[in-house]
Amino acid sequence: MCAVTLLKIAQIGEPVLRQLAAPVSPEALKSEAIQTFIDDLIATMRDANGAGLAANQVFRPLRICAIEVSDNPRYPYKPKIPLTVLVNPVVTPLTGMTFDNYEGCLSVPNLRGLVPRYPHARVTGLDREGQPVDMEVKGLTAGTFQHELDHLDGRLFVDRVIDRASFCTWDAFARYHQADFAERAREIVDVWGG
Ligand code: NI
Repeated sequence: MCAVTLLKIAQIGEPVLRQLAAPVSPEALKSEAIQTFIDDLIATMRDANGAGLAANQVFRPLRICAIEVSDNPRYPYKPKIPLTVLVNPVVTPLTGMTFDNYEGCLSVPNLRGLVPRYPHARVTGLDREGQPVDMEVKGLTAGTFQHELDHLDGRLFVDRVIDRASFCTWDAFARYHQADFAERAREIVDVWGG
């Protein structure tokens, strides 16, 4: 196995985070360069304890993202998500309802805020081998997918925060919101199953 390279993560204000990421052709996806890049993207996400990482967050504006949640210290209340790599993904809401998700982002240092997300959505696209993906995502997991797919359209969670009084540092989240949100997270998982 080749050594992976940890990539630099763009921070809010970098123009690449606001770029519409470009689709990846099936031929390009098969290339060694893109496959190595995907390995590096996954390694960088894991190293930074991210729940997901989009390619434009590491200065490559391509429609590729990785998502994984397993005992994440940044998000202890999040249900687990097996490693999922999505290429050219599209998300379609399957409900008109939304729930308030407390989000953070590796590209937005030390800030969290409440973002309305659909608790049930369909995600289509390709996996890293170019095979079609067609999955339903639910609850908090659906929120995680919507956050990552937003990155590919140049959108950050801060754009979607409606109640700006919900903005807080990670310390303030732990002190004032985590217990409540963990309880609400359990209810969301009970109702929506994810
Ligand atoms: Ni993010």
